[in-house]
Amino acid sequence: MDTIILGIESSCDDTSAAVVRNDVLLSNVTASQAVHEAYGGVVPELASRAHQQNIVPVVHEALKRAGVTKEELSAVAFTRGPGLMGSLLVGVSFAKGFARSLGIPMIDVNHLQGHVLAHFIKSSEDDDNQPKFPFICLLVSGGNSQIIRVNAYNDMQVLGQTIDDAAGEAIDKCSKVMGLGYPGGPIIDKLARQGNPRAFAFSKPHIAGYDYSFSGLKTSFLYSLREWIKDDPDFIEHHKTDLAASLEKTIVDILMDKLRKAVKDTGIREVAVAGGVSANNGLRNAFREHAEKYGWNIYIPPFGYTTDNAAMIAITGYYKYRDKDFCTIDKPAYSRVTI
Ligand code: KG4
Repeated sequence: MDTIILGIESSCDDTSAAVVRNDVLLSNVTASQAVHEAYGGVVPELASRAHQQNIVPVVHEALKRAGVTKEELSAVAFTRGPGLMGSLLVGVSFAKGFARSLGIPMIDVNHLQGHVLAHFIKSSEDDDNQPKFPFICLLVSGGNSQIIRVNAYNDMQVLGQTIDDAAGEAIDKCSKVMGLGYPGGPIIDKLARQGNPRAFAFSKPHIAGYDYSFSGLKTSFLYSLREWIKDDPDFIEHHKTDLAASLEKTIVDILMDKLRKAVKDTGIREVAVAGGVSANNGLRNAFREHAEKYGWNIYIPPFGYTTDNAAMIAITGYYKYRDKDFCTIDKPAYSRVTI
C-alpha cells in the first residue's frame, strides 16, 4: 500500500508544506517572508507571526496541488528543530494538532537530516540518480557547516563541523557590511560571476581535523574593507564584483579543502552537497571540478531543494515511517542540535 506523507517546515523564515507518495514528490509549496528584507536579517518575532498567517493556506495548497485529501494521509512529518523557537512552535503545534485530529502518526524530523535526505526526493518513479550508501555529504546552510558520513537514511555521523560561524552566515554578514542586502548568498553569487576571484586575498583558518571556522575570515574581510575605505570612500562600489568573487573563492576553498581530506581519508567517493549555500555556483563548479579530477560521483540538489523546503521533511518522514519511528505529542521543539 502507498504511504502518503504531509511534511511541514517552519524552522526559519519559510513556511513550507509538501506531500510525497512513497519517495515521489507530489507537491511542495513555500511562502517566503519578505518582511525581513528591511532589517538585513531574520527578525524572529516577525517570522513567527508570518508563519502563523501562512501555515493553514500553505498546507491547504500543498494538499490541493498533490490531489490528496487529508483523510488519505498516512502521517504528518514536521521539523522539530533546530531553528528559531517561535517559528518552530508554529509548525510543530500545527502538525501535532493536525495529526491528532486525523488519528494518524506524527513524525518529528531533524532539519539537518532533512537537508541531507533531500537527495532522495524523486520527481517520478524512474528518477534513479540518488547517492549510494555510504556517502559523504557537505551540509552548508545559514546556520551549519558540517561534513557528514551518511551510512543509511537514519544513520549519520558528523565527521567535522564549524567551531564558530557557518559558511552561509559569513557570506550574509560580509554582504551586509558591504551594504548589498539580505540574504547575501544569492547577491554575492551573482556579483562573483562578474569579478576576479584572485583580486583580493583573505585569511584562511588553520583548524585540525575536519572542523571548519569562518569567523576569522569574516574579521579579516571587515578589517581589510575598513582600511581600503579610508583611502577610497567609494571602494566598495568600485570593487564589489572583485570583492564578491574573492570572498566566494576563499569560502569555497575552505569548504573543499576539508571535504577533500575527508574523502581521501574515508576512501568514500560518493560525495553530495546540501543546504542553502549549495545553491552557490562557485561551490557547484568546484564540485564538478573535483568530480573530474578525483573521480568522485557527485550529487548536487536541484536549486529548489537547496534552501529550506518541506519536500525534504516529507521524504525524511517517509523513511522514518518505514521504520515506524514515530513521535509522541509531548516531544517539544528544540532550537539547537547537530545531526
Ligand atoms: O539552508 P538554508 O536555507 O537555511 C538554513 O537552514 O540555515 O540556508 C540559507 C543560507 C543563507 O546564508 C543564504 O545566504 C545562503 O544559504 N545562500 C547562498 C546562496 N543561496 C542561498 N549562499 C551562496 N550562494 C547562493 N546562491
